[in-house]
Amino acid sequence: MEKKKIIELLNADLQDEHGAIIQYLIHAYSMGEGELSCEIEAIARDEMRHLDWLAETIVELGGKPSLKRGKQNMAGKTVPQWMQNDVGLEDGAIETYKQHIQMIDNPKIKRLLKRILADEQSHRGDFAHFVDKARKEGLRDVRGKRKDGVTKTLDWGIAHEYTVILQYMFHSYMTKNKEARKQLEDQAINEMQHLGWLAEEMVDGGGNPVIEHTGPNQSTKMPDMLKADLKIEKEVAAAYDKAAREVGDEGLRKLLLRIRDNEKYHIEVFNDLLKEEK
Ligand SMILES: [Fe+2]
Ligand SMILES: [Fe+2]
Ligand SMILES: [Fe+2]
Repeated sequence: MEKKKIIELLNADLQDEHGAIIQYLIHAYSMGEGELSCEIEAIARDEMRHLDWLAETIVELGGKPSLKRGKQNMAGKTVPQWMQNDVGLEDGAIETYKQHIQMIDNPKIKRLLKRILADEQSHRGDFAHFVDKARKEGLRDVRGKRKDGVTKTLDWGIAHEYTVILQYMFHSYMTKNKEARKQLEDQAINEMQHLGWLAEEMVDGGGNPVIEHTGPNQSTKMPDMLKADLKIEKEVAAAYDKAAREVGDEGLRKLLLRIRDNEKYHIEVFNDLLKEEK
């Protein structure tokens, strides 16, 4: 099979992993904190590892990892229905990986897809079990309808964090500089924490976290990437600072300041990397 065709198939898989991550995270946040939400977040982390392996393989083949989000099923009104939809998403992934394993003749990639397939089969079993567990525990949708200045700030923060996660991951895959790759990946993981904190804050405060992103910078040259990363960090550090000063709730203020301080650290890291480039 031509490299171009393999890249296409792997990017389709990568997009579906992206869709699954967001579907599972929304389900985990929307049922409130507890054992089941933790287990679902652990599955979402497995999907992140899959996405990472696929992206690295695509880059090795000379391709670019797609930032598009693939198949999702956000229907269902109750937690057991969500879990059933997650079983369905895993069924789709299992079917697609089986097909791609048949189609792709590269032994190393076949082996990787088989490794991922085994995880998806295990996830499918987990979600089938979660249908009953959610029913027995009487878990329900704990999201509220709150819409005000606070939820607007949280919406903005979540959209920003999601955007930079994609941006830094993309940059980390495209750079050949090892130190930059590691730093970009580390900061992307920190932005994932921010997204989680903000989404949980939203649910705790009676809101509904909508997890959407804006346009991530997709530069492929080091100085261009770092300049874009530095620019966005400076903007958001200032925006978090301003939001923290304006917010009335003390808990939320602390959270925003903690995130602001992380962003300031990101500025320093990116500044150093940029200096080394010159
Ligand atoms: Fe996966
Ligand atoms: Fe952040
Ligand atoms: Fe940041």
